[in-house]
Amino acid sequence: MSDTTRRNFLKTSAAAAAAGSLLNGFAGDARAFSAADDTIKVGLVGCGGRGTGAASQALSTEGPVALVAMGDVFGDQLDASEKRIKGALRDKSDRVQVADDAKFVGFDAYKKVIDSGIDLVILATPPGFRPFHFEYAVNKGVHVFFEKPVATDAAGVRRVLDSVKLAKEKNLKVGVGLQRHHQYTYLETMKRLKDGAIGDIVATRVYWNNRGVWDPRKNRDQVSGEMEYQMRNWYYYNWLCGDHICEQHIHNLDVSNWLKGGHPVKARGTGGRQVRTDKKYGEIFDHHCVQFEYEDGTYMFSECRHQPNVWNSVSEHALGANGFANIGGASITANGGETWRYKGKKNNPYQTEHDNLFAAVRNDLPYNEGEYGATSTMTAILGRMCTYSGKELTWEQALNSEVQIVESADLTWDSTPPTVPDADGFYPIPHPGLTKVV
Ligand SMILES: NC(=O)c1ccc[n+]([C@@H]2O[C@H](COP(=O)([O-])OP(=O)(O)OC[C@H]3O[C@@H](n4cnc5c(N)ncnc54)[C@H](O)[C@@H]3O)[C@@H](O)[C@H]2O)c1
Repeated sequence: MSDTTRRNFLKTSAAAAAAGSLLNGFAGDARAFSAADDTIKVGLVGCGGRGTGAASQALSTEGPVALVAMGDVFGDQLDASEKRIKGALRDKSDRVQVADDAKFVGFDAYKKVIDSGIDLVILATPPGFRPFHFEYAVNKGVHVFFEKPVATDAAGVRRVLDSVKLAKEKNLKVGVGLQRHHQYTYLETMKRLKDGAIGDIVATRVYWNNRGVWDPRKNRDQVSGEMEYQMRNWYYYNWLCGDHICEQHIHNLDVSNWLKGGHPVKARGTGGRQVRTDKKYGEIFDHHCVQFEYEDGTYMFSECRHQPNVWNSVSEHALGANGFANIGGASITANGGETWRYKGKKNNPYQTEHDNLFAAVRNDLPYNEGEYGATSTMTAILGRMCTYSGKELTWEQALNSEVQIVESADLTWDSTPPTVPDADGFYPIPHPGLTKVV
């Protein structure tokens, strides 16, 4: 599109957006996309690996776009991220336009970024903070891309669901980092399965079994106290991470929910720490194995394991009345016959999810992925509640749980984290049969 065409197009779409907003009865506290300044101004909260990647992808979308504000609890993370985004953008590095007074460090950085006049915020901190950051962004009328998972406890999911509803009322666009929904292989395979390629889906099997993630990044003698220790090593603390069933296995659980067109109604499971037992690994389990039951009586069989030198697989499979499919592998075998394999174009779903979201912002198209982001997060939390407690739980019991592990995002370095170690540095580990989850 030439500049003139684009400008006219943006004017038209901005006028359409304004008209649409009036029709929706939308009072206008969302920053409707402006034709006068057609640059989409982006802010980044959480300048780690994914935030850096997401910002680079946001800045690689069609049309004028600029990163104008950044926030992190750690200044070193922010500075490194800015350099990496510029490096990734190469000849488009002038899209990074973050003035020194638009770089915010601290637990309140999210508010400062969101209040800095941006159109869209990328929320990519550890997930424990997400419900609060998302709620603030929606209240302030900012479009959102937020990473998965969107919470680490049921109270957080409820907060997100309320904000998703408000975002719809305010005509805000919301993208969630479950990028399989934008990956051509998944889209085509899913379409065929939903069109009945293997008949009714009888069961799904989903796995995130691999050796695990990074080892704790900082030792105690490299940090200023318990809060910084947990924040630097956030993956190993349930309030920040949600355990790895939530942090990573959510991708696979989400694919099963997508195929079934809903969430499980009941679950039971088992899990624990067999291998990753050192105190430096905080409080999370290293394996969970859960049977989720859907409303129609069919099952999703789920495993996630972080252990080295064992059978590994990150994948999703479906068993139907007339065949089976490897969804991630994009193959379908029906009626004992030939196997269909995806041969079409491949894409980078991390880029496409941003292309789609930014196109929706520019063209004022309906766009809200928050609900399935919240539902798949809750599915993972339900699974974790079952493995921690050893109980069978219903969706309703889990979603309405009174056990809130993160109460606020407005912390200080002197705040006491929700979990603390004993005198020897060991954290309390969930104990099936004793641990209370609802
Ligand atoms: N969709 C995907 O495939 C995918 C891939 C990787 C990560 N992620 C998600 O992205 C999120 C971040 O993961 P990551 O790998 O980038 O972690 P990371 O540790 O590299 O980055 C997290 C950043 O957030 C900062 N931070 C922590 N608390 C903050 C707060 N309250 N306010 C501001 N900044 C804060 C940290 O200092 C750090 O810079 C996770 O939820 C993860 O699941 C998604």
